Amino acid sequence: MTNSPLPIAVVGLGMVADGHIAAYRELPDVKIVAVVDPRAERTREVAEKLSVPGFTSCEAMLREVRPAIGCVLSTVDSHRPNTELLANAGAHVLCEKPMTNNLQDALAMAKACERNGVQFMYGSSYRFLPTIIRARELIASGVIGDVVLIEERGVTGAGADKFTPMSSAHYPEGTPGGGGFGLVDHGIHLLDVFPWIVGSPIQRAFGRGNYSGGSMQTEYAVFQHDNGAMGWLVYDEATVSSDMPWEGVFASGLTWQHGLGFGGDPGQWVKEPASIRVHGTKGALRIYYYANRMFLCQPSGTREIRVPATAAPTHFGKQLQALVDAIRESRHAPVGAAIGIQALQALLAIYRSAESKHWETVER
Ligand SMILES: NC(=O)c1ccc[n+]([C@@H]2O[C@H](COP(=O)([O-])OP(=O)(O)OC[C@H]3O[C@@H](n4cnc5c(N)ncnc54)[C@H](O)[C@@H]3O)[C@@H](O)[C@H]2O)c1
Repeated sequence: MTNSPLPIAVVGLGMVADGHIAAYRELPDVKIVAVVDPRAERTREVAEKLSVPGFTSCEAMLREVRPAIGCVLSTVDSHRPNTELLANAGAHVLCEKPMTNNLQDALAMAKACERNGVQFMYGSSYRFLPTIIRARELIASGVIGDVVLIEERGVTGAGADKFTPMSSAHYPEGTPGGGGFGLVDHGIHLLDVFPWIVGSPIQRAFGRGNYSGGSMQTEYAVFQHDNGAMGWLVYDEATVSSDMPWEGVFASGLTWQHGLGFGGDPGQWVKEPASIRVHGTKGALRIYYYANRMFLCQPSGTREIRVPATAAPTHFGKQLQALVDAIRESRHAPVGAAIGIQALQALLAIYRSAESKHWETVER
Protein backbone atom coordinates (compact mmCIF):
# COMPACT_ATOMS: atom_id res chain seq x y z
CA MET A 1 0.00 0.00 0.00
CA THR A 2 1.32 3.45 -0.91
CA ASN A 3 1.56 6.20 1.63
CA SER A 4 -0.70 8.57 -0.30
CA PRO A 5 -3.63 9.89 1.77
CA LEU A 6 -6.46 7.37 2.21
CA PRO A 7 -9.77 8.44 0.63
CA ILE A 8 -12.46 8.92 3.30
CA ALA A 9 -16.23 9.21 2.97
CA VAL A 10 -18.07 11.03 5.76
CA VAL A 11 -21.52 9.47 6.15
CA GLY A 12 -23.86 11.58 8.28
CA LEU A 13 -23.45 15.35 8.54
CA GLY A 14 -25.21 16.15 11.82
CA MET A 15 -23.88 17.87 14.88
CA VAL A 16 -20.94 15.61 15.61
CA ALA A 17 -19.75 15.66 12.00
CA ASP A 18 -18.41 19.22 12.28
CA GLY A 19 -15.90 18.10 14.93
CA HIS A 20 -14.90 15.00 12.96
CA ILE A 21 -14.44 16.93 9.72
CA ALA A 22 -12.39 19.68 11.41
CA ALA A 23 -10.10 17.04 12.93
CA TYR A 24 -9.82 14.95 9.74
CA ARG A 25 -8.76 18.00 7.73
CA GLU A 26 -5.68 18.29 9.94
CA LEU A 27 -4.52 14.75 9.07
CA PRO A 28 -2.06 14.43 6.17
CA ASP A 29 -2.81 10.69 5.99
CA VAL A 30 -6.43 11.06 4.89
CA LYS A 31 -8.39 13.01 2.31
CA ILE A 32 -12.16 13.47 2.48
CA VAL A 33 -13.44 12.49 -0.97
CA ALA A 34 -17.24 12.41 -0.43
CA VAL A 35 -19.91 13.41 2.07
CA VAL A 36 -23.35 11.84 2.54
CA ASP A 37 -26.55 12.91 4.25
CA PRO A 38 -30.22 12.61 3.21
CA ARG A 39 -30.65 16.32 4.05
CA ALA A 40 -29.82 17.63 0.56
CA GLU A 41 -29.24 21.23 1.58
CA ARG A 42 -26.88 20.37 4.40
CA THR A 43 -25.03 17.96 2.10
CA ARG A 44 -24.64 20.63 -0.56
CA GLU A 45 -23.35 23.14 1.99
CA VAL A 46 -20.68 20.76 3.40
CA ALA A 47 -19.75 19.40 -0.04
CA GLU A 48 -19.18 22.94 -1.33
CA LYS A 49 -17.12 23.90 1.69
CA LEU A 50 -14.88 20.85 1.24
CA SER A 51 -14.95 20.90 -2.59
CA VAL A 52 -15.99 17.24 -2.76
CA PRO A 53 -19.06 15.52 -4.22
CA GLY A 54 -22.09 15.22 -1.93
CA PHE A 55 -24.69 12.43 -1.99
CA THR A 56 -28.01 11.89 -0.27
CA SER A 57 -27.44 8.17 0.36
CA CYS A 58 -24.57 5.81 0.94
CA GLU A 59 -25.74 3.65 -2.00
CA ALA A 60 -25.53 6.63 -4.37
CA MET A 61 -22.08 7.56 -3.05
CA LEU A 62 -20.75 4.01 -3.47
CA ARG A 63 -21.88 3.90 -7.10
CA GLU A 64 -19.41 6.69 -7.85
CA VAL A 65 -16.74 6.75 -5.15
CA ARG A 66 -14.45 4.05 -3.73
CA PRO A 67 -13.52 5.24 -0.25
CA ALA A 68 -10.92 3.27 1.71
CA ILE A 69 -12.75 4.18 4.93
CA GLY A 70 -16.36 5.18 5.54
CA CYS A 71 -16.87 7.19 8.72
CA VAL A 72 -20.40 6.45 9.92
CA LEU A 73 -21.55 9.50 11.88
CA SER A 74 -25.24 9.16 11.05
CA THR A 75 -28.28 8.52 13.24
CA VAL A 76 -27.85 5.43 15.41
CA ASP A 77 -30.61 3.51 13.65
CA SER A 78 -28.76 3.91 10.33
CA HIS A 79 -25.42 2.61 11.65
CA ARG A 80 -26.16 -0.97 10.59
CA PRO A 81 -27.33 -0.33 6.99
CA ASN A 82 -24.52 2.16 6.39
CA THR A 83 -21.90 -0.20 7.84
CA GLU A 84 -23.18 -3.08 5.72
CA LEU A 85 -23.19 -1.00 2.53
CA LEU A 86 -19.64 0.23 3.13
CA ALA A 87 -18.29 -3.19 4.12
CA ASN A 88 -19.92 -4.86 1.10
CA ALA A 89 -18.21 -2.25 -1.08
CA GLY A 90 -14.84 -3.15 0.49
CA ALA A 91 -14.47 -0.04 2.65
CA HIS A 92 -13.19 -0.16 6.24
CA VAL A 93 -15.64 1.35 8.72
CA LEU A 94 -15.25 3.75 11.61
CA CYS A 95 -18.62 3.94 13.37
CA GLU A 96 -19.73 6.40 16.03
CA LYS A 97 -20.98 5.13 19.37
CA PRO A 98 -23.24 3.40 20.27
CA MET A 99 -22.78 0.74 17.57
CA THR A 100 -26.56 0.29 17.85
CA ASN A 101 -28.99 -0.05 20.75
CA ASN A 102 -29.64 -3.75 20.12
CA LEU A 103 -27.40 -6.79 19.98
CA GLN A 104 -28.75 -8.25 16.75
CA ASP A 105 -27.74 -5.23 14.66
CA ALA A 106 -24.35 -4.90 16.35
CA LEU A 107 -23.50 -8.56 15.66
CA ALA A 108 -24.63 -8.17 12.04
CA MET A 109 -22.33 -5.14 11.61
CA ALA A 110 -19.35 -7.06 12.99
CA LYS A 111 -20.16 -10.01 10.71
CA ALA A 112 -20.50 -7.83 7.59
CA CYS A 113 -17.01 -6.41 8.17
CA GLU A 114 -15.53 -9.80 8.94
CA ARG A 115 -17.12 -11.38 5.85
CA ASN A 116 -15.73 -8.65 3.60
CA GLY A 117 -12.27 -8.68 5.19
CA VAL A 118 -12.49 -5.02 6.25
CA GLN A 119 -11.77 -3.47 9.63
CA PHE A 120 -14.50 -2.18 11.92
CA MET A 121 -13.36 0.53 14.32
CA TYR A 122 -15.73 1.35 17.18
CA GLY A 123 -15.81 5.11 17.83
CA SER A 124 -15.04 5.03 21.52
CA SER A 125 -13.72 8.54 21.15
CA TYR A 126 -13.10 9.11 24.88
CA ARG A 127 -10.20 6.64 24.63
CA PHE A 128 -8.46 9.33 22.58
CA LEU A 129 -8.92 12.21 25.03
CA PRO A 130 -5.63 13.27 26.71
CA THR A 131 -7.00 13.19 30.29
CA ILE A 132 -8.47 9.71 29.88
CA ILE A 133 -5.20 8.37 28.44
CA ARG A 134 -3.16 9.94 31.26
CA ALA A 135 -5.60 8.74 33.94
CA ARG A 136 -5.23 5.18 32.66
CA GLU A 137 -1.43 5.44 32.84
CA LEU A 138 -1.55 6.87 36.37
CA ILE A 139 -3.92 4.17 37.59
CA ALA A 140 -1.71 1.45 36.07
CA SER A 141 1.33 2.99 37.80
CA GLY A 142 -0.38 2.56 41.18
CA VAL A 143 -0.45 6.26 42.12
CA ILE A 144 -3.96 6.01 43.59
CA GLY A 145 -3.58 2.39 44.79
CA ASP A 146 -6.31 -0.14 43.97
CA VAL A 147 -9.39 1.42 42.38
CA VAL A 148 -12.44 0.91 44.58
CA LEU A 149 -14.99 3.25 42.99
CA ILE A 150 -15.45 5.07 39.69
CA GLU A 151 -18.35 7.40 39.03
CA GLU A 152 -20.03 9.99 36.83
CA ARG A 153 -23.23 11.97 37.30
CA GLY A 154 -24.95 14.23 34.80
CA VAL A 155 -27.98 15.81 36.45
CA THR A 156 -28.57 18.75 34.18
CA GLY A 157 -31.06 20.59 32.01
CA ALA A 158 -33.51 23.45 32.03
CA GLY A 159 -36.49 21.61 33.49
CA ALA A 160 -38.91 19.00 32.18
CA ASP A 161 -40.74 21.46 29.88
CA LYS A 162 -37.57 22.31 27.99
CA PHE A 163 -36.40 18.72 27.60
CA THR A 164 -36.19 17.39 24.03
CA PRO A 165 -35.51 13.70 23.48
CA MET A 166 -33.33 12.44 20.62
CA SER A 167 -35.53 11.86 17.56
CA SER A 168 -36.83 8.39 16.81
CA ALA A 169 -34.54 8.47 13.77
CA HIS A 170 -31.78 7.65 16.26
CA TYR A 171 -33.73 5.29 18.50
CA PRO A 172 -37.03 3.82 17.23
CA GLU A 173 -39.86 4.31 19.73
CA GLY A 174 -39.94 1.71 22.45
CA THR A 175 -36.21 0.89 22.19
CA PRO A 176 -33.51 2.13 24.61
CA GLY A 177 -33.09 5.87 24.00
CA GLY A 178 -32.86 9.24 25.67
CA GLY A 179 -32.01 12.87 25.28
CA GLY A 180 -28.35 12.79 24.22
CA PHE A 181 -26.78 12.91 27.69
CA GLY A 182 -28.33 9.79 29.18
CA LEU A 183 -27.28 6.17 29.55
CA VAL A 184 -27.63 5.07 25.91
CA ASP A 185 -26.02 8.07 24.28
CA HIS A 186 -23.52 9.23 26.81
CA GLY A 187 -23.27 6.47 29.42
CA ILE A 188 -22.20 4.10 26.64
CA HIS A 189 -18.87 6.02 26.52
CA LEU A 190 -18.29 5.32 30.21
CA LEU A 191 -19.38 1.68 29.97
CA ASP A 192 -16.32 1.24 27.77
CA VAL A 193 -13.96 3.77 29.32
CA PHE A 194 -14.45 2.66 32.95
CA PRO A 195 -13.28 -0.93 32.29
CA TRP A 196 -10.51 0.42 30.05
CA ILE A 197 -8.99 2.74 32.65
CA VAL A 198 -9.63 0.45 35.61
CA GLY A 199 -8.14 -2.47 33.67
CA SER A 200 -11.01 -4.81 34.52
CA PRO A 201 -14.28 -5.64 32.69
CA ILE A 202 -17.74 -5.02 34.12
CA GLN A 203 -19.07 -8.27 35.55
CA ARG A 204 -22.60 -7.43 36.68
CA ALA A 205 -24.93 -4.45 36.71
CA PHE A 206 -28.14 -3.10 38.21
CA GLY A 207 -30.02 0.01 37.12
CA ARG A 208 -32.62 1.59 34.91
CA GLY A 209 -32.57 3.29 31.49
CA ASN A 210 -35.10 5.27 29.45
CA TYR A 211 -36.95 4.18 26.31
CA SER A 212 -37.42 6.31 23.22
CA GLY A 213 -40.89 7.87 23.16
CA GLY A 214 -41.53 7.03 26.83
CA SER A 215 -41.48 9.28 29.87
CA MET A 216 -37.99 10.33 30.91
CA GLN A 217 -36.97 9.25 34.39
CA THR A 218 -33.71 9.47 36.29
CA GLU A 219 -31.39 6.85 34.81
CA TYR A 220 -28.84 5.05 36.94
CA ALA A 221 -26.53 2.09 36.94
CA VAL A 222 -24.43 0.47 39.64
CA PHE A 223 -21.93 -2.09 38.52
CA GLN A 224 -19.11 -4.30 39.70
CA HIS A 225 -15.90 -4.94 37.81
CA ASP A 226 -14.12 -8.32 37.85
CA ASN A 227 -11.49 -6.91 40.24
CA GLY A 228 -14.17 -5.83 42.74
CA ALA A 229 -14.13 -2.11 41.87
CA MET A 230 -17.61 -0.56 41.88
CA GLY A 231 -18.92 1.92 39.34
CA TRP A 232 -21.97 4.11 39.20
CA LEU A 233 -23.62 6.42 36.70
CA VAL A 234 -26.58 8.76 37.28
CA TYR A 235 -28.21 10.87 34.55
CA ASP A 236 -31.22 13.15 34.39
CA GLU A 237 -31.50 15.68 31.60
CA ALA A 238 -35.05 16.81 32.36
CA THR A 239 -34.40 18.61 35.63
CA VAL A 240 -32.23 21.55 36.68
CA SER A 241 -28.57 21.30 37.63
CA SER A 242 -27.74 22.03 41.26
CA ASP A 243 -24.03 22.56 40.57
CA MET A 244 -22.77 25.88 41.88
CA PRO A 245 -21.06 28.15 39.32
CA TRP A 246 -17.83 28.13 41.37
CA GLU A 247 -17.65 24.34 41.15
CA GLY A 248 -16.58 24.72 37.51
CA VAL A 249 -13.11 24.95 35.96
CA PHE A 250 -11.24 26.96 33.36
CA ALA A 251 -11.34 24.71 30.31
CA SER A 252 -8.30 23.96 28.23
CA GLY A 253 -10.36 22.43 25.42
CA LEU A 254 -13.73 22.80 23.69
CA THR A 255 -16.73 21.28 25.46
CA TRP A 256 -19.75 19.46 24.06
CA GLN A 257 -22.74 21.81 24.20
CA HIS A 258 -26.04 19.98 24.04
CA GLY A 259 -27.88 20.84 20.84
CA LEU A 260 -24.92 22.81 19.49
CA GLY A 261 -21.94 20.47 19.24
CA PHE A 262 -18.39 21.34 20.35
CA GLY A 263 -18.03 24.97 21.37
CA GLY A 264 -16.73 27.43 23.91
CA ASP A 265 -13.12 28.51 24.08
CA PRO A 266 -10.05 27.06 25.72
CA GLY A 267 -9.46 29.31 28.74
CA GLN A 268 -13.16 29.87 29.31
CA TRP A 269 -14.83 29.20 32.68
CA VAL A 270 -17.14 26.16 32.40
CA LYS A 271 -19.80 26.16 35.14
CA GLU A 272 -20.88 22.53 34.84
CA PRO A 273 -17.94 20.60 33.39
CA ALA A 274 -18.57 16.89 32.94
CA SER A 275 -16.17 14.86 35.04
CA ILE A 276 -15.26 11.35 36.15
CA ARG A 277 -14.15 10.62 39.72
CA VAL A 278 -11.89 7.63 40.35
CA HIS A 279 -11.28 6.64 43.97
CA GLY A 280 -8.45 4.32 44.99
CA THR A 281 -7.03 3.00 48.24
CA LYS A 282 -4.28 5.68 48.22
CA GLY A 283 -5.76 8.60 46.33
CA ALA A 284 -8.29 9.82 43.81
CA LEU A 285 -8.46 11.39 40.35
CA ARG A 286 -10.92 14.00 39.14
CA ILE A 287 -10.99 13.92 35.35
CA TYR A 288 -12.59 16.84 33.48
CA TYR A 289 -12.37 15.03 30.18
CA TYR A 290 -13.67 17.75 27.84
CA ALA A 291 -12.38 20.73 29.82
CA ASN A 292 -9.05 18.86 29.54
CA ARG A 293 -8.04 19.31 33.19
CA MET A 294 -7.23 16.62 35.75
CA PHE A 295 -6.44 16.65 39.47
CA LEU A 296 -4.70 14.08 41.64
CA CYS A 297 -6.06 14.09 45.18
CA GLN A 298 -3.94 12.48 47.89
CA PRO A 299 -4.04 12.68 51.68
CA SER A 300 -1.02 15.05 51.44
CA GLY A 301 -2.85 17.46 49.10
CA THR A 302 -4.28 18.01 45.64
CA ARG A 303 -2.31 18.90 42.51
CA GLU A 304 -3.05 19.34 38.87
CA ILE A 305 -1.82 16.76 36.38
CA ARG A 306 -0.93 18.56 33.17
CA VAL A 307 -1.99 16.92 29.91
CA PRO A 308 -1.33 17.89 26.27
CA ALA A 309 -3.48 20.83 25.18
CA THR A 310 -4.94 18.87 22.28
CA ALA A 311 -8.41 17.90 23.50
CA ALA A 312 -11.78 17.74 21.73
CA PRO A 313 -12.42 17.64 18.86
CA THR A 314 -8.86 16.69 17.84
CA HIS A 315 -9.47 13.32 19.54
CA PHE A 316 -11.61 12.38 16.51
CA GLY A 317 -8.51 12.83 14.37
CA LYS A 318 -6.40 10.66 16.68
CA GLN A 319 -9.11 8.01 16.53
CA LEU A 320 -9.15 7.96 12.74
CA GLN A 321 -5.34 8.06 12.61
CA ALA A 322 -5.23 4.95 14.82
CA LEU A 323 -7.38 3.12 12.28
CA VAL A 324 -5.29 4.39 9.35
CA ASP A 325 -2.10 3.19 11.08
CA ALA A 326 -3.65 -0.23 11.67
CA ILE A 327 -4.74 -0.52 8.02
CA ARG A 328 -1.31 0.52 6.73
CA GLU A 329 0.41 -1.97 9.03
CA SER A 330 -2.11 -4.77 8.32
CA ARG A 331 -3.20 -4.86 11.97
CA HIS A 332 -6.69 -5.12 13.40
CA ALA A 333 -8.42 -1.85 14.32
CA PRO A 334 -7.25 -0.94 17.85
CA VAL A 335 -10.84 -0.54 19.09
CA GLY A 336 -12.75 -3.24 17.27
CA ALA A 337 -16.35 -4.40 17.08
CA ALA A 338 -15.91 -6.69 20.10
CA ILE A 339 -15.31 -3.60 22.27
CA GLY A 340 -18.42 -1.84 20.97
CA ILE A 341 -20.44 -5.01 21.54
CA GLN A 342 -19.07 -5.37 25.09
CA ALA A 343 -20.18 -1.81 25.98
CA LEU A 344 -23.60 -2.63 24.53
CA GLN A 345 -23.76 -5.85 26.58
CA ALA A 346 -23.17 -3.81 29.77
CA LEU A 347 -25.94 -1.41 28.73
CA LEU A 348 -28.34 -4.26 27.98
CA ALA A 349 -27.61 -5.86 31.37
CA ILE A 350 -28.69 -2.58 33.01
CA TYR A 351 -31.96 -2.59 31.04
CA ARG A 352 -32.54 -6.28 31.84
CA SER A 353 -32.03 -5.63 35.54
CA ALA A 354 -34.81 -3.02 35.53
CA GLU A 355 -37.16 -5.77 34.35
CA SER A 356 -35.87 -8.61 36.53
CA LYS A 357 -35.29 -6.37 39.59
CA HIS A 358 -32.05 -8.30 40.13
CA TRP A 359 -28.41 -7.74 39.35
CA GLU A 360 -27.68 -9.04 35.86
CA THR A 361 -24.47 -10.63 34.64
CA VAL A 362 -22.90 -8.85 31.65
CA GLU A 363 -22.67 -11.32 28.77
CA ARG A 364 -19.19 -11.71 27.22
N1 LIG B 1 -18.30 10.71 20.16
C1 LIG B 1 -19.01 11.71 20.62
O1 LIG B 1 -18.57 12.45 21.49
C2 LIG B 1 -20.38 11.96 20.05
C3 LIG B 1 -21.04 13.15 20.30
C4 LIG B 1 -22.31 13.33 19.72
C5 LIG B 1 -22.87 12.34 18.93
N2 LIG B 1 -22.20 11.18 18.73
C6 LIG B 1 -22.76 10.11 17.88
O2 LIG B 1 -22.66 10.52 16.52
C7 LIG B 1 -23.76 10.04 15.78
C8 LIG B 1 -24.49 11.25 15.18
O3 LIG B 1 -24.87 12.13 16.21
P1 LIG B 1 -25.26 13.64 15.93
O4 LIG B 1 -25.30 14.30 17.25
O5 LIG B 1 -24.41 14.20 14.87
O6 LIG B 1 -26.77 13.43 15.40
P2 LIG B 1 -27.61 14.42 14.48
O7 LIG B 1 -29.04 14.00 14.68
O8 LIG B 1 -27.22 15.82 14.71
O9 LIG B 1 -27.16 14.03 13.00
C9 LIG B 1 -27.41 12.79 12.40
C10 LIG B 1 -27.29 13.00 10.89
O10 LIG B 1 -27.41 11.73 10.24
C11 LIG B 1 -28.16 11.95 9.05
N3 LIG B 1 -28.70 10.68 8.53
C12 LIG B 1 -29.87 10.07 8.85
N4 LIG B 1 -29.96 8.90 8.16
C13 LIG B 1 -28.84 8.78 7.41
C14 LIG B 1 -28.36 7.81 6.49
N5 LIG B 1 -29.06 6.71 6.21
N6 LIG B 1 -27.17 8.02 5.91
C15 LIG B 1 -26.43 9.14 6.20
N7 LIG B 1 -26.84 10.09 7.04
C16 LIG B 1 -28.03 9.92 7.66
C17 LIG B 1 -29.22 12.96 9.47
O11 LIG B 1 -29.82 13.61 8.37
C18 LIG B 1 -28.40 13.91 10.32
O12 LIG B 1 -27.81 14.94 9.57
C19 LIG B 1 -24.60 9.21 16.75
O13 LIG B 1 -24.17 7.89 16.69
C20 LIG B 1 -24.23 9.81 18.11
O14 LIG B 1 -24.41 8.92 19.18
C21 LIG B 1 -20.96 11.00 19.25
